[in-house]
Amino acid sequence: MEKIVILTGAGISAESGLGTFRDEGGLWAQHRIEDVATPEGFARDPALVHAFYNARRVQAAKAEPNAAHTALARLQRHWPGEVVLVTQNVDSLHEAGGARNVLHMHGTLAGALCAACGHRWAAPPEMTVGQPCPACAAPTGRPDVVWFGEMPYHMDSIYDHLAEAGIFAAIGTSGQVYPAAAFVHEAAMAGARTVELNLDPSSGASSFDQVILGPATETVPAWVDQLLAG
Ligand code: OAD
Repeated sequence: MEKIVILTGAGISAESGLGTFRDEGGLWAQHRIEDVATPEGFARDPALVHAFYNARRVQAAKAEPNAAHTALARLQRHWPGEVVLVTQNVDSLHEAGGARNVLHMHGTLAGALCAACGHRWAAPPEMTVGQPCPACAAPTGRPDVVWFGEMPYHMDSIYDHLAEAGIFAAIGTSGQVYPAAAFVHEAAMAGARTVELNLDPSSGASSFDQVILGPATETVPAWVDQLLAG
């Protein structure tokens, strides 16, 4: 049975109350990327960066998965082939909705990372400047999220999955950030049928075979129903 590879972005969590980045009033309208989402910004002002991710961690912990998250978990349970979920999101709403083996290519708010030795541990709700690493004791704890200028996680395995995809879907992502924005081309080269599910057409919408517009809580359950009905 065909392998389905699904890429999700901030739009899938919007109806759970988590703000997107580039929609009107989104996170990047309120904060400068250079300040809060780069290694240089963290070196300059770690307190500001921790405050940004602490606020998002607290907010994400209160959020509930929505009908789009649970529909994808249902697809994973019932599709006879493999369903690979790749997310750019740092929330854990796919897992909270019942999904398994989610590839968090931009990391996760739930994790802390030692910038010195690479050790990972569960992040406390509030991280502080100089957070000591439980493994090497260096005061170099940081959120385990991928910043601009850093290599996203799990790329080898994501490209392997894309090369085997029969169906590729991008859900709730504006297609402005690479390498994720190019996954549709990788999947198409492998012969996959490609579909975008988004509120508005993304900048890369013309690269997809099919575009389904609307709020994720409506479009995603309907798309999953259709796939499972064969
Ligand atoms: P964006 O904020 O760029 O895009 C969100 C997309 O979701 C837009 O295309 C919206 O139209 C769509 N959208 C909004 N509400 C929706 C809803 N209810 N249902 C369906 N779609 C909806 O977010 P991403 O594409 O995820 O990276 O951003 C990609 C990366 O840029 C993020 O992972 C983050 C950011 O900078 C880093 O910080 C490294």
